[in-house]
Amino acid sequence: MRVLLTGGAGYIGSHTALVLLENGLDIVVLDNLDNSNPESLRRVEELTGRQAPLIVGDCTDEKTVASVFEQFRPDAVIHFAGLKAVGESVQKPLNYYQNNLDATMTLCRVMPKYDCRVLVFSSSATVYGTNQKMPLREDFPTGCTNPYGWTKWISERILTDVAAADPTRSFVLLRYFNPIGAHESGRIGEDPSGIPNNLMPFICQVASGKLDHLRVFGNDYPTRDGTGERDYIHVMDLAEGHLAALNYAKHHSGVEIFNLGTGTPYSVLDIVSSFEKANGVKIPYEITPRRPGDIAVCYADATRARDLLHWTAQRDLTAMCKDAWNWQKQNPNGY
Ligand code: NAD
Ligand code: UD1
Repeated sequence: MRVLLTGGAGYIGSHTALVLLENGLDIVVLDNLDNSNPESLRRVEELTGRQAPLIVGDCTDEKTVASVFEQFRPDAVIHFAGLKAVGESVQKPLNYYQNNLDATMTLCRVMPKYDCRVLVFSSSATVYGTNQKMPLREDFPTGCTNPYGWTKWISERILTDVAAADPTRSFVLLRYFNPIGAHESGRIGEDPSGIPNNLMPFICQVASGKLDHLRVFGNDYPTRDGTGERDYIHVMDLAEGHLAALNYAKHHSGVEIFNLGTGTPYSVLDIVSSFEKANGVKIPYEITPRRPGDIAVCYADATRARDLLHWTAQRDLTAMCKDAWNWQKQNPNGY
């Protein structure tokens, strides 16, 4: 089986590329390198001893996408390509709607011309909006609070309608919770540009001395210790979830939605103390006001993925912290 990974040079895509290659699948990557470095795939090749061909091009361009299908004839697509910075999406909403929605629609148009009916889509827990009831189940109401989130929500809608119009299609929508960590080798990992927005990359840069201290955004939430709680998932577990999703999609048709999370919430202070304990480093922090737009708690009910995909996350928080730091230490300036 050959799988096209759009956005496959990025953080989650490169880890998934590695898992697919290690499991005997062939891949091809289409990425415009807007937020990634081809070195990630070179290292995937080094780790697996297999080829990870990269086509540098834009997934919103129908001619480019068609030429990749013409040349490689993929049996399935995993669609990672997208812009993902929440704050930037508020500043530049049109860039987000154009890039993320055009990419999804272009794939939907090209795939049937090459008899490719399986697509796995990178959605996000952000589509659950401000739901208060936890854990979050796939059939809960959805709604978003920023343009990035709406691009995921609308892409889910588009894919659902396209699959309804053509019953031979098989689409799996994966709602990721908070991916962190890196491959255990420390050769591939998350390489944010500039000062990171997300918690774990920020902690790693504090640990390495690049940043002075962590700002903990609020300790007055209705949680165990007052700081925000999230469902952190090891990126290798997440990558393995994509293999399970492909296997599922091959034998089904229509649309299915799965949460990919562990089902266990951890607070910001839990992450700080686990990181310190796992790695023997100190993370100085100060408590600051809440970050606008943040919610108190967000974690998955992951039983649907367990029952239908036969997948559950295997790696614990200690492994997530160790692997994140191992990557950061080995690659202080990223790729
Ligand atoms: P990433 O930025 O590392 O990877 C995305 C890749 O897509 C990048 O390599 C980028 O260059 C590429 N890309 C963007 N637009 C493109 C286009 N038009 N054509 C070709 N390539 C394009 O991000 P990631 O963390 O690996 O996320 C992968 C997907 O998962 C994204 O769709 C993201 O929205 C989604 N997601 C990520 C998270 C997270 O916390 N990382 C959580 C939920 C959902
Ligand atoms: C972010 C995105 C969300 C995306 C998710 C998955 C925002 C507003 N939301 O969510 O769309 O689906 O990542 O990766 O960016 N924190 C601090 N100090 C920091 C950074 C974070 O205290 O410097 C706290 C946050 O308040 C939150 C937790 O750490 O409680 C996790 O934050 P983050 O890693 O940014 O992820 P989310 O906010 O869950």
